[in-house]
Amino acid sequence: MSEKRFYITTPIFYPNAELHMGHAYTTVLSDIIARFKRLEGYRTHFLTGSDEHGSKVAKAAKLAGKEPQEYVDELSQKFKDLFQELDVSYDQFIRTSDKEIHYPGAELLWNKLVEAGDIYKGHYEGLYCIGCETFYTEKDLVDGKCPLHNTVPELVREENYFFKLSKYSNTIRGKIESDELRVIPETRKKEILSVLEGGLSDVSFSRPKESVSWGIPVPGDESQVMYVWCDALSNYITAIGYGRDEKMFTDFWPADLHVIGKDILRFHAAIWPGMLLSARLPLPKAILAHGFITSGGKKMSKSLGNVINPKDLIEEYGEEALRYFIGREISPLEDGDITPEAFKESYNANLANGIGNLASRILTMAVSYDAFPETYKRELNKEFETELSHYRVHKAADIVFTEIQQIDVAIQVQEPFKIYKTDPKKARAIVSDLVQKLSNVAFHLEPFLPKAAQKIQTAISEKRVPETLFPRKD
Ligand code: MSP
Repeated sequence: MSEKRFYITTPIFYPNAELHMGHAYTTVLSDIIARFKRLEGYRTHFLTGSDEHGSKVAKAAKLAGKEPQEYVDELSQKFKDLFQELDVSYDQFIRTSDKEIHYPGAELLWNKLVEAGDIYKGHYEGLYCIGCETFYTEKDLVDGKCPLHNTVPELVREENYFFKLSKYSNTIRGKIESDELRVIPETRKKEILSVLEGGLSDVSFSRPKESVSWGIPVPGDESQVMYVWCDALSNYITAIGYGRDEKMFTDFWPADLHVIGKDILRFHAAIWPGMLLSARLPLPKAILAHGFITSGGKKMSKSLGNVINPKDLIEEYGEEALRYFIGREISPLEDGDITPEAFKESYNANLANGIGNLASRILTMAVSYDAFPETYKRELNKEFETELSHYRVHKAADIVFTEIQQIDVAIQVQEPFKIYKTDPKKARAIVSDLVQKLSNVAFHLEPFLPKAAQKIQTAISEKRVPETLFPRKD
């Protein structure tokens, strides 16, 4: 097919609690990229969803006094509601408890690994962190605790199926080294290459039903359920038809981009490629592993009292303000920080006094002088396109917001409102050019601020002043 297409995914989220800032970050970042690809003319498939099986979710359901299915039904609906509020333009929301959409492909993939001779039964004895849904060895722990969750892992002794990941270490390493599978940014590529250099160990790929019952039964052995990561990673292919609709699957696979957080890099850049190689499927083209969001330089936590809830920000400033902060103020290539003060300051400077003020200033003049262009040019700025195609989303946003400031300065310098008194024709020409520029700014803002961009374009085409886009906050 010659048509340009782009398949982008977010991680699927554990419905063991409501979504927080980190989750909103991954999803909005992915949405900005997906919207940009659509602007570039790609037929885009944007997948998100929820990772509903495993001990962590089952435990949370129990605590809430609910059956796991009932519990995940409720939480996944909440995820969808938040994503709708944030204007996340996903094309598909996959749920791993979906027996029609997800199970057939997850089972087929398992069977392919079996056919390749890569699944074997063994005894496992190790330390399991429920928070991470992963096994650790003593040396991974800090003071006997999980480095991410600061909790003591459970000692597990059981019979599991294993996946022969070790067999694929070298092949995966070669593909990442050569950028056949791109790992972005460079720091993460180095990190995973050094893991691969040491060689990968085989991974436990199932749990006995009596320890974890909430999962997909292993085909041919009802006494075991698939390991939650084996189940979850396969979502990227089951969603688009693997095991169900071959045509749809080959249309979209391989994925162009998996957006993930840096904490789940090993799963995506080691285990997942291993599974695909074993099943003789093409590997994804790229993985973007973004950093973590902190508040005031510290991990957000209730005890520190620095938790920033995306819902509160949306309520106070509107969802576009949150999208703006995510896209502009945080680099996907590093860790980022958010504080209420920084948020307000950037909102006032760039949204209220920035684009909001500029739009109303230009359109007020355009309406009173009747100065609108006959036609509009829409062309993506090359630099903007380059930054975004390398996923330097914050740099692309900088280009647009710098342009907004420059237009503002130009108005101050040119003073069309003064010129109008002596030379209305000249003033009209200047303002009409400003309207063209504003329309072009709105075009580039669409991936970041879809609603504001639309409001500006509509006001321009209806030749009126838009309502206040971003009220100033004191
Ligand atoms: N269910 C797995 C992913 C399976 S993908 C096949 C999972 N879920 S999660 O809900 O715990 O996390 C989802 C994403 O949120 C991860 O990419 C994680 O990196 C991201 N974040 C969680 N906290 C974060 C921050 N504080 N900052 C930025 N992103 C972080 O992992």
